[in-house]
Amino acid sequence: MKVLVATDKAFAPVAVAKIRDVTESEGHELVLLENYKSVSELLAAVADADALIVRSDLVTAEVLDSARKLKIVVRAGAGYDNLDLVACTARKVIAMNTPGQNSNAVAELAFEMMLYQARNGFAGKSGSELRGKSIGIHAYGNVGRYVAEIAKGFGMKVFAYDPFVSEAEIRNNGITPCLSAEELYSSCQYVSLHIPANDKTKKSIGYDLLKLMPENAVLINTARKEVINEEGLLKIFEDRHDLAYLSDVEPDCKALFEEKYKGRYIFTAKKMGAQTEEANINAGVAAARQIADYFKTGNEKFKVNN
Ligand code: 3PG
Repeated sequence: MKVLVATDKAFAPVAVAKIRDVTESEGHELVLLENYKSVSELLAAVADADALIVRSDLVTAEVLDSARKLKIVVRAGAGYDNLDLVACTARKVIAMNTPGQNSNAVAELAFEMMLYQARNGFAGKSGSELRGKSIGIHAYGNVGRYVAEIAKGFGMKVFAYDPFVSEAEIRNNGITPCLSAEELYSSCQYVSLHIPANDKTKKSIGYDLLKLMPENAVLINTARKEVINEEGLLKIFEDRHDLAYLSDVEPDCKALFEEKYKGRYIFTAKKMGAQTEEANINAGVAAARQIADYFKTGNEKFKVNN
């Protein structure tokens, strides 16, 4: 079988070598399309692929229509909002993700941004410390749990809100559970977002929640830019000059931040949360193994479409 790795943002070479080892040792062929610049390159590359590994690359109905032999697509990562699941199902393509494999890298990036912001970009001016500050984890999943553990190491007071995780489980992990998003945002100077982007969550974080945050509040978004209501974000930044927004990827309203809110934001140009050798190896190898296993045994664990 031909396994195509199509990544607009390439994996580290060490990860690609390991993905190749796993794939070839199972008797499959590995083909690489890295750092591609246009959809047409992707459309051409998928034409004879039996399996596809992607990162945040968009797997649309158009891509699937070009991939006539495709049987399985694995998103090497957690969020699969880039896969058109309905189109996958309609074309009998199995879609999977690799949950948890890159979570620590994303959690560390949240702290890298928090520390840089807290020290005013190392520009010489006195900053502040994380110890003793409150942090709210919005969604206590794989990344949220790593953020909580690192926050404890910094001596932060850790809160979490997740309607899908029991209060008891959160409490047993030494974290204060909140019963609503409102409670979380009003209790915490830092809030770190870990909700997926779906029809329910898109644009769900906006003015009404952010206005509840205490003085010098910082919102950290290593989830998806789509979960932010950017009009609401801009409105609260206009009202409150003490807020900061740290986001792994630029919001659509980046130009306004650059013009008006200097020193109050950090935006990465490319999504960098999962961009470590370790995360690339973990997620990439997991994807390659899931594909090999699916071809060998039909194992559909981690399937995300119906
Ligand atoms: C994920 O959902 O796994 C992360 O957002 C990482 O995305 P990336 O593979 O595009 O870096």
